[in-house]
Amino acid sequence: MSFSDYTTALVTGASAGMGAAIVERLAKRGLTVHALARNEERLADLAQRTGAVPHVVDLTNTRQLTEHVEELDVDVLVNCAGVSRTGNILDSSEHDIDELVDVNLRGLLQLTRLVLPGMVSRDLGHVVNISSIAGIYNFYGHTVYHATKAAVHQISRQLRNDTVGRRIRVTEICPGRVETEIFGRNMGGTPEAMKEAWKTYYEGYESLTTDDMVNALDYAIDTPRHVNIGMLEIMPTLQVPGGLVFDRRQPAIEEVE
Ligand SMILES: NC(=O)c1ccc[n+]([C@@H]2O[C@H](COP(=O)([O-])OP(=O)(O)OC[C@H]3O[C@@H](n4cnc5c(N)ncnc54)[C@H](OP(=O)(O)O)[C@@H]3O)[C@@H](O)[C@H]2O)c1
Repeated sequence: MSFSDYTTALVTGASAGMGAAIVERLAKRGLTVHALARNEERLADLAQRTGAVPHVVDLTNTRQLTEHVEELDVDVLVNCAGVSRTGNILDSSEHDIDELVDVNLRGLLQLTRLVLPGMVSRDLGHVVNISSIAGIYNFYGHTVYHATKAAVHQISRQLRNDTVGRRIRVTEICPGRVETEIFGRNMGGTPEAMKEAWKTYYEGYESLTTDDMVNALDYAIDTPRHVNIGMLEIMPTLQVPGGLVFDRRQPAIEEVE
């Protein structure tokens, strides 16, 4: 079992959704798990339930991030934290774009920079990046979210090159729709928004669950060390990517006015 090769994990986005479920599984597998997110109360609760070590950190704050992780020897790094938005670049604020890039991309890169050299020197490590089908396919979704997730896809492949010759495994898990808080957060994050998001995005659908995601991660880690599971694209059976759009010619704006 490859889990027995590893002793320590670091999981971002640990206070909710997939990240919290991943912390639970890795802790059950016997690893010391460092759980990173901003919500102190939720991390304390998670720590109580799982024995995880909480790190209250804003991933966009590189100084704070460095202070928390620079002394750690991390065997399994799970880059799970992520934010999304409704709409697209046409209705984005300056902050929307910065936050999407800072959490989904810059934070992931900074953390990888901090953790990967230790893995290389110990010849031991597994990086798991949670991307999205938004990084692979074009469909209605936020432009910047798609762009950051496409970058996560590319980074995952590039890390294999960066660490060639060392026993560092890199797995990209690329999910379709999963039942978490992400859509509720997009809609404002209030309890009402969470309920509204549940109705809009989950009710009546057979979405993936966080358990489905954790089982995929478990599989990728549990393969023998000479096996690298590069990418797992996982969608609900009833969700299909693609759908080419060919719009009819629109009247010119001056013709409409
Ligand atoms: N759910 C889906 O349908 C779906 C589909 C494809 C891909 N994904 C991806 O899956 C990953 C997990 O998402 P999820 O669905 O589990 O979302 P979620 O339930 O909304 O959880 C998001 C997590 O990210 C953390 N986070 C956000 N901003 C942060 C920041 N500045 N610093 C530190 N942590 C931060 C949040 O913690 P705090 O608020 O406590 O900081 C939370 O723990 C994301 O990368 C997402 O893009 C999700």
